[in-house]
Amino acid sequence: MKCSLRVCILFLGLLIVFLTSVFFTYTLTGVTNAAYLENQAPEDVDRIKLVPSYLGIQKLTKGPASQRTCACSHCVGDPGVSQWFDEKFDQDILPLWTKTNMILEPTVYNWWVMLQPQFKPQDLKDILTKLFLIVPGENPYGSWNRSRCRRCAVVGNSGNLHQSHYGEDINAHEFVMRMNQAPTVGFEADVGSRTTHHFMYPESAKNLPANVSFVLVPFKTLDLLWITSALSTGKIRFTYAPVKQFLRVDKEKVQIYNPAFFKYIHDKWTEHHGRYPSTGMLALFFALHICDEVNVYGFGADSRGNWHHYWENNRYAGEFRKTGVHDADFEAKIINTLADIGKIKVFRGN
Ligand code: C5P
Repeated sequence: MKCSLRVCILFLGLLIVFLTSVFFTYTLTGVTNAAYLENQAPEDVDRIKLVPSYLGIQKLTKGPASQRTCACSHCVGDPGVSQWFDEKFDQDILPLWTKTNMILEPTVYNWWVMLQPQFKPQDLKDILTKLFLIVPGENPYGSWNRSRCRRCAVVGNSGNLHQSHYGEDINAHEFVMRMNQAPTVGFEADVGSRTTHHFMYPESAKNLPANVSFVLVPFKTLDLLWITSALSTGKIRFTYAPVKQFLRVDKEKVQIYNPAFFKYIHDKWTEHHGRYPSTGMLALFFALHICDEVNVYGFGADSRGNWHHYWENNRYAGEFRKTGVHDADFEAKIINTLADIGKIKVFRGN
């Protein structure tokens, strides 16, 4: 009897110790998690999954609900829609050249300096450091965010915009991206009047209204020297053609296209068709990396098969296709595929 009482007491003691440890383990874990989550803004909770690379997202996310990367009905960033797209899309390469990625990898540098090989490369870091004293040199776009729906219109210069009446639709986007000459005055009904981003290289550059981001597409180090000069001393007036000595643009909004991103499009998307991608392709993929929904206007031939610009009367003009520098047909194929898988919507005009 004495012995079994001892056993009973021992058993009761062990039971109390066990239950107490279970209670504390459960309570403390709950408190720690709650405190962690409380200190996170709602969008930061989403971003936990968004920090790794694009393929990383796929590994971390489970089920369709957690794959959403934005609040639009279709999100460019959502993985799992197309294997073709997911294998090519690389979120780790920043579209902009900023203070944080000034040094180019040797393969990128060697490719970039051969785009216009007649110009001698110079000390990039020194030149960019001076440029970033005048323009911000920062990336303003952030990452995917489940509560955001950033709708972007990429407006090419095709004559298919003529009589399209897309103006109002284009204006309704948060970002409206245009390139090179792209006049709007007199063409508002077809191409809209708003512009938030204008992609140009030195030889195609024009003055822009305040609040428009000039996105400089650099082909050589001289282009970086030119933009620095055009926003300050005005020393440079000529590259391979006359360039604007002074440029009237919002300095705070000047952005520099990243050569690594340029090469990424050439390697992964246009797959070396053409010597390098057209300005329109550069703008389109820029949009695919910073927007949640991308609508495309003014690309390709018109309904009669002509490749002219919307402001030209000569419908037989088609510089974009004739130069041979870009592969217009292959670029059109990429645009069609992106539309087929629902990553973009294409408005084909007239
Ligand atoms: O002719 P430009 O290069 O200024 O036109 C801007 C962009 O619009 C081109 O780089 C090209 O991507 C697109 N475009 C097009 N079809 C046209 C004219 C231009 O796709 N007929």
